[in-house]
Amino acid sequence: MKESINGTVWKDINGNPIHAHGGWILFHGGWYYWYGEDRRERYYVSCYRSRNLRDWEFRRHILTMDSRMEAYRVRTKLQLQNEDGGKVNLERPKVLFNEKTGKFVLWAHFENGRDYTAAAAAVATCDTPDGDFTYHGHFNPYGYMSRDCTLFQDDDGTAYFISAARDNADLHVYRLTDDYMNVERLVHRLWQGEYREAPAVAKIKGRYYMLTSFCTGWEPNQAKYAWADAIEGRWSCLLEIGDETTYHSQPAFLLQKDGRTLYFGDRWGGDGEAYFSSSYVVYPLELTEGRLAIKPVEEIWL
Ligand code: DGJ
Repeated sequence: MKESINGTVWKDINGNPIHAHGGWILFHGGWYYWYGEDRRERYYVSCYRSRNLRDWEFRRHILTMDSRMEAYRVRTKLQLQNEDGGKVNLERPKVLFNEKTGKFVLWAHFENGRDYTAAAAAVATCDTPDGDFTYHGHFNPYGYMSRDCTLFQDDDGTAYFISAARDNADLHVYRLTDDYMNVERLVHRLWQGEYREAPAVAKIKGRYYMLTSFCTGWEPNQAKYAWADAIEGRWSCLLEIGDETTYHSQPAFLLQKDGRTLYFGDRWGGDGEAYFSSSYVVYPLELTEGRLAIKPVEEIWL
């Protein structure tokens, strides 16, 4: 990456802007794979890779309007275009590697491209981290609405899908099946009526931390976090972190590297054309005497 200033346009090693918003980084086989929303042309999700988190090589538009679709055992709707042949929306894509099946499994937030009424979870898979993903459709877990989402993989391989339900009022935590292809159990309905979105989870020094934002569309707001000794155990109440705009960002995901935790956030441009001026921030996340804090550095801290 040439520029290393938070909130500016970040470029890949060929000098092209990186399109990976609402994203996620998966470390696999010595590479960091950065997945994220790419709303240009017929694309939905793009993937870049890097050895050092600074020099990013574009790999592929892994999900597009033309991706292969394949029904899966869960009852899902296979739809990568709306009724008029226009685009749907796939937001906040996250990818895990499943040791048991050898598959890379992607979960995302599906919308119909016109509004936010579908509120569904979408699943796609691939045999490689950066190949053409096969789309398995979208569904409402146990019938619930499912908007902003994230994944979390615990040390023993148990994975969770976390998403905003009931018009964003509650945050649901679903344990996934062994193959990561479906929800197995709704283990939590957290912070009912608090309207938290943009969840991001990390395990730091044996404890689980979840950052979330409030719901203000594309405008940044005050992030809050909570902690738990087990994902399925009791979560703390919400505690404020950062300033009233979370240093002009909304959580995308948390990444651990060399014993440090990095907060990756989106600095959204806004709706319509403004979306394309969205950029990213990376801030150190520090844990001091049990309190979590974001350090709002100007230069990207990697
Ligand atoms: C906030 C969400 O976090 C984003 O992913 C996106 O859905 C916008 N709302 C849309 O307004």
